[in-house]
Amino acid sequence: MKPDILAVGKLAPTLEERLRQVYIFHERLPESDPLAATAIAKRVRGIVARTSSPVSREVIAPLPGLEIISVFGVGYDKVDVSAAHERSIVVTNTPDVLTEDVADTAIAMLLCVSRGIPAGERFLRQGLWKPNVISGKFPLMRKVSGGRVGIIGLGRIGSAIARRAEGFGMAIAYSDLAPKAGVSYTYFGSTEELAANVDFLMVAAYGGPTTRGLVNARVLRALGPKGFLINVARGTIVDEPALVEALKAGVIRGAALDVFANEPSVPPELLTMDNVVLTPHLASGTEQTRKAMEDLVLANLDAHFAGKKALTPVLS
Ligand code: 8YV
Repeated sequence: MKPDILAVGKLAPTLEERLRQVYIFHERLPESDPLAATAIAKRVRGIVARTSSPVSREVIAPLPGLEIISVFGVGYDKVDVSAAHERSIVVTNTPDVLTEDVADTAIAMLLCVSRGIPAGERFLRQGLWKPNVISGKFPLMRKVSGGRVGIIGLGRIGSAIARRAEGFGMAIAYSDLAPKAGVSYTYFGSTEELAANVDFLMVAAYGGPTTRGLVNARVLRALGPKGFLINVARGTIVDEPALVEALKAGVIRGAALDVFANEPSVPPELLTMDNVVLTPHLASGTEQTRKAMEDLVLANLDAHFAGKKALTPVLS
């Protein structure tokens, strides 16, 4: 008997196709047919979820046979892991396979915002590049090499960002729950202190309640009018209204954001700011990495349903 798998959130067609080959796959429970929905809910043994879709206590409650929640992504802040573990439901994510892409994106965004690459491109395309007039020259921007970068969260992705920053001869500092053993980068116990000592503040921490609003107005003030904020982690970690205010008032110099608190909505004020780089949560979005993420989602399910331990279970 093939196990029944339920999608939570819209999955990539390639992943759906691969799930259909091995499992009885349900895109959703049929809302218009409560009897059929209940019958399917009783059979569901696995969930495959997007990182953006909540897998709350309420989502898992009507699924009495649920054994595994396989998240398509490394961040599982939308999954109620305690509720799952109470019922011995295994939760898995996709660590490691996306680390390099996310770190690449972080560095690209740092370069884009501090060197004004997207703004410079807009300048050129708008025909503003003119000979022999000051207004026809693009303004001078901020040097990256040799600068000071502060990484909030020195996990897999934070460490990969740090490795790249070493290549730019940057001074590297970080904040985390505690100093990391064997790491020579400068540790700061508070985000505010970290921000006060760097030119570029990189967010690479976990999402969820423990980091909500961690980058607040005080942290942005500490970063200061020459500082840049880069976020490739979770929008919730930054107090978005405070960031908008800080950018408007020149409290910080610029920001590069791949993630937002209420995706896909973006605070409209940001759209008109030239010192802000905005991308649609694309950090892991390469063909190669998304394929590797799909492979890991499937490998976790396959291992579990073969009676083995899942490859990348999350502990809490
Ligand atoms: C998403 C991410 O998984 O892995 C994460 O935590 O945020 C992303 O890589 C990706 O956008 C697919 O939902």
